[in-house]
Amino acid sequence: MPRSLPYARMFTTRVLLAIALVALYAQALLPGGDASGLALLFGRFHPLLVHLPIGLLVGALGLFWWNRLGFGLAAAPAVATLVHLGAWAAVAAAWAGLDLEAGGGYGGDGVLYHKIAGMAVATLAVAVVFLDYGRLRQGIEGVHTAPVTRSHKLASLLLFAALVVAGHLGGNLTHGPDFLAEHMPGPLRTLLGGSGRVAFASIEDPGSLPVYAALVQPALDARCVSCHGASQAKGKLRLDTPEGLIAGGTNGEVIVAGQPDASELVRRIRLPASHEEAMPPDGRAGLSVAEATLLEWWIETGASFDLTLQDAEQTPQVSFVLQGLGIGAFPTGIYALDTAPPDSTALVRLEATGISVLRLGESEAYVSLRCSRSDVCLTPEQVAAIDPVAAQVAWLDLSGTDVDDAGLAVVERLPHLERLHLQRTRITDEGIRRLVGREYLTYVNLYGTAVTDSALSVLEGLPALESVYLWQSGVSVEGAARLRERRPGLLVDTGAAAGGQ
Ligand code: HEC
Repeated sequence: MPRSLPYARMFTTRVLLAIALVALYAQALLPGGDASGLALLFGRFHPLLVHLPIGLLVGALGLFWWNRLGFGLAAAPAVATLVHLGAWAAVAAAWAGLDLEAGGGYGGDGVLYHKIAGMAVATLAVAVVFLDYGRLRQGIEGVHTAPVTRSHKLASLLLFAALVVAGHLGGNLTHGPDFLAEHMPGPLRTLLGGSGRVAFASIEDPGSLPVYAALVQPALDARCVSCHGASQAKGKLRLDTPEGLIAGGTNGEVIVAGQPDASELVRRIRLPASHEEAMPPDGRAGLSVAEATLLEWWIETGASFDLTLQDAEQTPQVSFVLQGLGIGAFPTGIYALDTAPPDSTALVRLEATGISVLRLGESEAYVSLRCSRSDVCLTPEQVAAIDPVAAQVAWLDLSGTDVDDAGLAVVERLPHLERLHLQRTRITDEGIRRLVGREYLTYVNLYGTAVTDSALSVLEGLPALESVYLWQSGVSVEGAARLRERRPGLLVDTGAAAGGQ
């Protein structure tokens, strides 16, 4: 049977294979013009084609070593045929890889090493094909027992190593360097070069989360770093490190701190997926709306790498997104306190005195109080009934009631008062003095009262105050202007549209 092996034809096909290999090297090393449409198409088959040489060559090498180690016998011509087919497949896959690269957008060390490993696979496979040929010829009389030279063994081992390296580096290019290592135990992961970045599995104190590291970089890792990372940096842009984000790409900066609209990176992610400059390209899954919102917000707040969530001012949109992530609401002011919920019988008794009580949200400890009759507000009986829930009173609405300066003494008992409505009451500057020391008071409405400029020093001294309403009060335009000047950020509403009144 061995005598019938068609040596002439075997030789011809091997010569053709060698020519193909030389052409592959020419393609890889000589500068080429623009890739043709057909080449670009062929290039896209690279990720598919690479599986052929892997399967064929690993199969062949497996059989080869199976024989060598004496586990069983596979006919040497069959093994040689597998290697031969595998070598053709390796040349074709490498060729497609070069075409894919020529299509543009690839660069960086990762691509270079993958290319070298891929060329090594093709070269070593062709080498083994020729070594097999020699062996087949020698072994005519006994195919199974033909001597295997040391170079044959070495070439087969190197071929296997090159396959593993090329496959691994190729995988890194498609899936990102962490793909394989992601679920490995720590030491193995470090060995394989994974970054070992840890996810925030449990968040004890969301306010202390760094915005960039916790919310921005993970999105870039997931959607951008496979092309803009250590193994390849398309557009010469790396998005896996702060340095890379600062350095920008071919066309310079991609982030302008404080100005998302002027940031190239933001422009790219906002483009419709079909736009040729859209990121990620080719209709790949891009950032989610939530991820994009957080990224833009991070740039807007100054693109700082150590800003924490609690120090960044949130827009309503951002709060909404953060709430969706379960890290939205950082209690501030009285809501950060550990106040116990009010005693419900005390609330019932309080209502019985003619004060309407409203709970501020289901889980809140706090209540809002309002006199249900404006002509008998804050009687001694009512004040006594407020006492047991004084720590829970956050909002007090006395607007339009007969409350006067003496009645306002009640606020001194309310340590957590946050909003106070005094509009259209008989309160004067004298009563306002009772507000001194209300450290959580954020809102005071004095519309339609006789309060004058001399009350403003008290208001100015309220640390948490955010808004004060002074329309139709005794406060002068100058007084209001002075307050605004001394407390920038405080809303001083005098009802004046523009300068008037
Ligand atoms: C599939 C690969 C791929 C992915 C994924 C990808 N990019 Fe790109 N990116 C490219 C290529 C190729 C270029 C260069 C061509 C160009 O400028 O359009 C580029 C260029 C850029 C540039 C311009 C750099 C410069 O200075 O010219 C920015 C900004 C950018 N990408 C941002 C992103 C962001 C943000 C993501 C993730 C949401 C992302 N890219 C995901 C392939 C990718």
